[in-house]
Amino acid sequence: MSNEYDVGHSDASVASRDDGAGPGEHKTAEGERLQKVLSRAGVGSRRTIEDYITDGRILVNGELARLGQRVILGTDELRVDGSPVLFESGLAYRLLNKPIGVISTVSDTHGRPTVVELVPPDPRVVPVGRLDADTEGLLLLTNDGELTHRLTHPSFGVWKTYMAQVDGLVSDADLGRLRRGIELDDGMTAPAKARLLAATKRESAVELKIHEGRNRQVRRMLDRLGHPVTRLIRTAIGPIDIGTLKSGDFRDLTQGEVDRLYSVSTSPGEERNDTAAHPKH
Ligand code: URA
Repeated sequence: MSNEYDVGHSDASVASRDDGAGPGEHKTAEGERLQKVLSRAGVGSRRTIEDYITDGRILVNGELARLGQRVILGTDELRVDGSPVLFESGLAYRLLNKPIGVISTVSDTHGRPTVVELVPPDPRVVPVGRLDADTEGLLLLTNDGELTHRLTHPSFGVWKTYMAQVDGLVSDADLGRLRRGIELDDGMTAPAKARLLAATKRESAVELKIHEGRNRQVRRMLDRLGHPVTRLIRTAIGPIDIGTLKSGDFRDLTQGEVDRLYSVSTSPGEERNDTAAHPKH
């Protein structure tokens, strides 16, 4: 669960008419239904939020929220598990645990499910880079173009962590080759960080950290060593970890997490700085 939540549009007047306001009711004065506001903020589905309300996890102005309660954006103070929900900008940062079979694009010509269908439509966000359809795990979706550039452009060198389950016993020699770089069809890979997590004679689990974003790179590197990948999960981007997020679920990044992504994504000419200027959401 994130500590802070961001709403794409802070202006209650842009809300659509399905907020339960009756004919003639003035929406800004009446506010919007709490479930709708929090769902748009990325806290969860309306159903999930109803459960949170029932479980006493949501406070409005310091008091336990009621089902169906109406709130006014920017006026009422909302908290989820004690952390404030923020309403300051249109920037959204969704952290999705992408399931297998879901495509990392905005639309698919073959009608397959896409990652954007798993997060709120408003504000519109796009995936930061891509994971193969058969890869699971951490995928960020945002409308922050600067952060997208920093996380996807190789010159910023942000490490991405993968857990690969492979056929066969990965040896120390294999780990050494991964650490030195592997010759692929499109050239030598940069040195990776590699460690063995578990192994039997038949299969192994390897943690691999890379900072390039070549097509099917992890699969091709391990294939080249004679260890075809049977399952691939991205577990982290820089300091942001998938944690206990369930497959198909998403949460919003906290402001602190956005700050950390900015501070780890520095180009060679830029000074690494924890207080680098970047948008507040
Ligand atoms: N490497 C791969 O092989 N596949 C992915 O989806 C990401 C990295």
